[in-house]
Amino acid sequence: MLDPTTLIKASLEAGLDLMRPPHEGEDGAAVARPAPLLVPIRSLGANHRERILRHLLSLEPQDRYLRFGYSAQDHQIERYVEGLDFERDEIFGIYNRKLELIAMAHLAYAKDEGHGSCAEFGVSVLPSARGKGYGARLFDRAAMHATNDGVSMMFIHALSENTAMLKIARNAGARVERDGTESEAYLQLPESTLDSRVTELIEEQVAQTDYRLKVQAKQFWSFLADVQAVRRGAIDAQSRMPY
Ligand SMILES: CC(C)(COP(=O)(O)OP(=O)(O)OC[C@H]1O[C@@H](n2cnc3c(N)ncnc32)[C@H](O)[C@@H]1OP(=O)(O)O)[C@@H](O)C(=O)NCCC(=O)NCCS
Repeated sequence: MLDPTTLIKASLEAGLDLMRPPHEGEDGAAVARPAPLLVPIRSLGANHRERILRHLLSLEPQDRYLRFGYSAQDHQIERYVEGLDFERDEIFGIYNRKLELIAMAHLAYAKDEGHGSCAEFGVSVLPSARGKGYGARLFDRAAMHATNDGVSMMFIHALSENTAMLKIARNAGARVERDGTESEAYLQLPESTLDSRVTELIEEQVAQTDYRLKVQAKQFWSFLADVQAVRRGAIDAQSRMPY
């Protein structure tokens, strides 16, 4: 659990970072930055469906295979995203400064009445954002949300070759059962506490604020880019004048 000092420090750090222009290398690719102290993970609603689709469609075939357990084609991903139930389930996301969804997780609640206190976890992180702990943070966030929702067991279906996913589950204390090429991980969740409920509330507020700041920063930098383009155009036109 994060203490209030860490949360405040992280908010300040995120605020300062947003004042800097987006970093790009010579080839236009984003320059890697170290992972921030606190990763703002927000709960996503139906208005994020388009970005979720874009995120999943950008996954390479091998990642789609690992994420869905089969070689998901574009139309199958489209159907999956159309069918997301934002009322029943919980979708979490991490946005970068360009408002690209770089990581997302789906906490799906069991439909069967008899399995009411179970939820399945699925996650994907874009290759450029891997190895920074985002997968593990999304797992922790989903586990905390499930705990606060009265879920007693979170499970993950993964291919046995998926070392990273199984490591995330094991590190969190899940029991992993291997059955040939497939594995199931079960995480027994504790009872919710006042601490877990308040922490989730604060984390969600920080993430919502971070998102709003990113939207404003993006609008500001694109406005500035437009102004620069107009200025450059005026200078070019002036330099072409015969006198
Ligand atoms: C699995 C996935 C979500 C991991 O995301 P990530 O953000 O790179 O993971 P993290 O940085 O949080 O790393 C978690 C742990 O796995 C380890 N790890 C990461 N990549 C690894 C790899 N390729 N091989 C072995 N271990 C790896 C990390 O070292 C870390 O362990 P540690 O904390 O003990 O050091 C990401 O690789 C992915 O999107 N894969 C495709 C989709 C998928 O497999 N989804 C899971 C099935 S639902």
